Amino acid sequence: MERRKFIKKCGTVGLSCMIGQSILTSCSSVVYAPHTVANNQIIVRKLDFPFEPNYVLIKDERLPAPIYLCRLSGENYVALLMECTHKGCEVQPFADQLHCPCHGSEFANTGKVLEGPAEEDLKKFQVTTDAKNIFIS
Ligand code: FES
Repeated sequence: MERRKFIKKCGTVGLSCMIGQSILTSCSSVVYAPHTVANNQIIVRKLDFPFEPNYVLIKDERLPAPIYLCRLSGENYVALLMECTHKGCEVQPFADQLHCPCHGSEFANTGKVLEGPAEEDLKKFQVTTDAKNIFIS
């Protein structure tokens, strides 16, 4: 194999590996937490809540969209329905915000609208905790 072809081939393989790794890294940051449902509450064990990132997603077929459960600090959690209040698209977590891929609305991790066209905050659930669990209702 000619030197030039060899270098070109190695460069292509290397670039493919870098792209693949970056895709895997970005995918691995989304964590779907196992949960149970009892007494009209979704229960997530604190053991299943990672240190990083500071949020997990909860998928349940009874909900129109996943729940974004974020630890704001210590025992202070917020649980948001990931359904955009503009036209109902599923918002996506991005750093400490949620972005809507449909028309670009942006929300804080507290659910507050940061950027329209959405005008209403994301639906927020009540969150309580005990020593071992996080309860969403
Ligand atoms: Fe989210 Fe339109 S549905 S901005």
